Amino acid sequence: MNITVIQGSPRSGSNSAKVAQFLCDSLNAKEGVGSKVISLRELDFPNFDTGLEIPQIEMLRTTLNDADGLLFVFPEYNGGMPGAMKNALDYFRPEYNLKPMAAATVSAGPFGGLNAWHAFHSWALYVGGIVLPNNLKVSGVGNLFDQAGTPTEEHFNLNYPKFLEEFQWLVGKIQD
Ligand SMILES: Cc1cc2nc3c(=O)[nH]c(=O)nc-3n(C[C@H](O)[C@H](O)[C@H](O)COP(=O)(O)O)c2cc1C
Repeated sequence: MNITVIQGSPRSGSNSAKVAQFLCDSLNAKEGVGSKVISLRELDFPNFDTGLEIPQIEMLRTTLNDADGLLFVFPEYNGGMPGAMKNALDYFRPEYNLKPMAAATVSAGPFGGLNAWHAFHSWALYVGGIVLPNNLKVSGVGNLFDQAGTPTEEHFNLNYPKFLEEFQWLVGKIQD
């Protein structure tokens, strides 16, 4: 089972990038799962233009098509998804149809990116994704990891294993 983690923060030194890598590593520790992180920041898509042909668009198209499931990890920016993330995702449409999707939303504050989750959920249903109802809300992200990169927050440590398990279950059901 191939689960691609899409990291949606455009910021250098992003906290979401750390969460994305941690969840990817956790997926890779599971039997029968292979995962990699795609950072939209690194792909650096220009503002959308129909028919634009650049190698990173083709690369992401292949990645989206090949993935059995897509795990999006991104911060809340001013009550929604980062604009740069939405811009990059809008280059594609049929690639999302009937694709299992899940989201981990990230905030420095206490609400775990709740508004970003709602924005994502509307978008994901619109483009035809099969969205895991459970969303991993990652709050207080600035203090989540210790020096060794181990998460120290009680709620995160309680919630992320169940979240990943449920997503693995969903992807498996769609594969059947
Ligand atoms: C442009 C911008 C808007 C933001 N808006 C919100 C917000 O609406 N709600 C929130 O909880 N945090 C907000 N934050 C703070 C992020 O939660 C914080 O940067 C966190 O580290 C996750 O983003 P990152 O992955 O880019 O680091 C915002 C940050 C930026 C740069």
